[in-house]
Amino acid sequence: MNSGEIFLNSYQRCRIGTEFITDFLDLFCDANPRFLDRFQEVDKKQQARMLKASLVLIQNASTTSAVRNTVRNLAVKHKDMELEISAKELDMWVDSLLATVAIYDPFYDEDVEQAWRNVLALGIEIMKENAC
Ligand code: HEM
Repeated sequence: MNSGEIFLNSYQRCRIGTEFITDFLDLFCDANPRFLDRFQEVDKKQQARMLKASLVLIQNASTTSAVRNTVRNLAVKHKDMELEISAKELDMWVDSLLATVAIYDPFYDEDVEQAWRNVLALGIEIMKENAC
């Protein structure tokens, strides 16, 4: 299995929903308390849909320039929210996401972790280029 397949299988096992999102945002905000207030206002159901959509988007970031542009627009949207997200915070976003995957995917191991990191890398790189 290649990274993309390992990622997709793990993604499905996680069944990302409101519980997953709540744990993810708790972990992320424990490490980055400055975002706590901002995320408390957020509807978790909607956030779960957004996370799923953006994971699929980021997974496809390597395939076409149109997808890469959409990721760039996402970065700009974050900029417009005046969150001033740094590259380090984006790395922490990935680490918190993987710590959550480790809870929800019963088959989580080093290969699964690496597959998520590989799949996310390009999209996160694009977001970093357009951060702050
Ligand atoms: C440090 C990292 C990040 C922080 C602090 C952050 C924070 C936020 C916040 C506060 C919102 C608005 C939520 C709302 O009011 O409903 C949001 C929206 C969103 N975020 Fe992030 N985000 C981060 C990274 C990412 C990454 C890496 C992705 C993609 C994989 C992403 C995807 C999205 C999407 C798709 C939306 C919805 C945008 C829309 O309204 O169209 N975020 N984010």
